[in-house]
Amino acid sequence: MKLTLFSILFFIAISIQAQQDLAHLKVQGSATQLIVHGKPFLILGGELGNSSAASIADIERHFPKLKRMGLNTVLVPAYWDLIEPVEGEYNFTLVDKVINQARENELKVVFLWFGAWKNSMSCYTPLWFKKDYKKYPRAYTKAGKPLEIASSFSENVFQADNRAFSQLMKHIASVDKEQGTVIMVQIENEIGMLEDARDYSKEANTLFNAQVPETLIAYLNKNKKTLHPQMLKKWGEQGYKKKGNWQEIFGNDLYTDEIFMAWSYAQYVEKLAKTARSIHNIPLFVNAAMNSRNRKPGEYPSAGPLAHLSDIWHCGAPSIDILAPDLYDKGFTNWVAQYKLPDNPLFIPEIRLSDNNGVQAFYVFGEHDAIGICPFSIENGSDSEQAPLVQSYAKLKELMPLLTKYQGKGTMNGLYFDSDDKERVLYKDDLKITCRHYFTLPWDSRAADGSVWPDGGGILLRISEDEYIIAGSGIVIEFEKKEENNVIDAKELGEDGFINMGGKDIKQVAWKGGLRAGIGTVDEIKIKGDGTFEYIRRLNGDQTHQGRHVRIPVGEFSILHVKLYEYK
Ligand code: DGJ
Repeated sequence: MKLTLFSILFFIAISIQAQQDLAHLKVQGSATQLIVHGKPFLILGGELGNSSAASIADIERHFPKLKRMGLNTVLVPAYWDLIEPVEGEYNFTLVDKVINQARENELKVVFLWFGAWKNSMSCYTPLWFKKDYKKYPRAYTKAGKPLEIASSFSENVFQADNRAFSQLMKHIASVDKEQGTVIMVQIENEIGMLEDARDYSKEANTLFNAQVPETLIAYLNKNKKTLHPQMLKKWGEQGYKKKGNWQEIFGNDLYTDEIFMAWSYAQYVEKLAKTARSIHNIPLFVNAAMNSRNRKPGEYPSAGPLAHLSDIWHCGAPSIDILAPDLYDKGFTNWVAQYKLPDNPLFIPEIRLSDNNGVQAFYVFGEHDAIGICPFSIENGSDSEQAPLVQSYAKLKELMPLLTKYQGKGTMNGLYFDSDDKERVLYKDDLKITCRHYFTLPWDSRAADGSVWPDGGGILLRISEDEYIIAGSGIVIEFEKKEENNVIDAKELGEDGFINMGGKDIKQVAWKGGLRAGIGTVDEIKIKGDGTFEYIRRLNGDQTHQGRHVRIPVGEFSILHVKLYEYK
């Protein structure tokens, strides 16, 4: 074929277009959005169990169910041991099956590179790698015990891992450049050192006693004002030194060992990230096992991309877009808050599968402009239309054009109520908005009947001064003027003038005058693809406690359009 200038330009234009169509991140206000096929996208996801994409039959069985559940994205392991069972020979049968099944079931895919490390261990390295421990050395404990953890200080380990990973990325590029089914890649899985806080191999010890790299010191200096408080404190305790070995700069304790190790992991991951970017440039992230339950580094996987190490990871692995938390412990709202930072969007690749996932999803999108949420071992969830996650994802799918329009603009809040947190008060314009768990109403006695409460949660979106979208499940919301103070807790007032509502003492006090806020209308709506509203029904009477509040009962998810008015 003779190449004319026109055909060359045409091919260049096509490939630029394909590149632009690839999933990427974009900043909107204080939010970072994931753009898929040119539009902002919220990952209503789920992660498959570790061994659930290891057979063609399982992939064929699980994916249609994920579609029925209403997911738009599935997180799936790409197993190094199955991709390169024989050194240098690659097999992408499972990867291809995942991509094809995803397309058939209208799902996007996030591949998880189960490479050198999976939950600290190196169990997904191929057998030829495991056996050749001389070429691919292990990490050692302080006592000299070799671990089933490949050493991040070994160039051979990196070369083998990087070679296989680059084959995977090339394969994805070759089969998916046009369709863009694969929207992100996770590098390794829950990297971290166990048993001890750092590797004690010879190479590691040598570097531990060497100077802290200048790049890191320069980063700490440059970002001193925004460093994580724990990092600032550790560095400050040693006098903010600008030169020295790891212990001179950060002190002599386990947390310094952890910082040193995090630097090693981050630098290793950075090289893989650069490989990925040079082949197929889609967003990249790493995930972390949490440092929960008062455990120390080494008791929890030390040195992963944890919040208190975010400076080390950001400096060491700048090509990684997101440090992502895996959430299995109590304290959901507290954990997620730690990972939504100005330089780190919130993405939750794993959260314990539970009936609360539906409201958790609402919370992270409303409160933190999250990129996505993915309950783990999703194939074990229910695909019943009544299941909380199925209801939740259906409503969030509808809400997507609206939420993505308002992301990063400071007009949305997430609500989350569990047995500890039952109330949240928000102030907007001249309004005081009291949001409660559905079961904490004074006239509702179910709170006292000993039943276990499902968590409640939702999104409160301010459209204008007198117009709100309220969506979610298990929430009750009251609007009043900020200066209004006509009802206060009786306990502050003494004995007279009490009224008792559902066992709670409430006192009416003298009205001070001024405008009051009233609920004008509450309509259940459907959001259309272009973000406009379609009326379903008016909610009034018992459904709004005769106009006193806006409510979405436990067990159902809905989207309400609320108009307020004022009176005197
Ligand atoms: C977190 C890991 O990242 C997952 O792969 C899985 O092992 C879960 N823990 C627990 O099942």
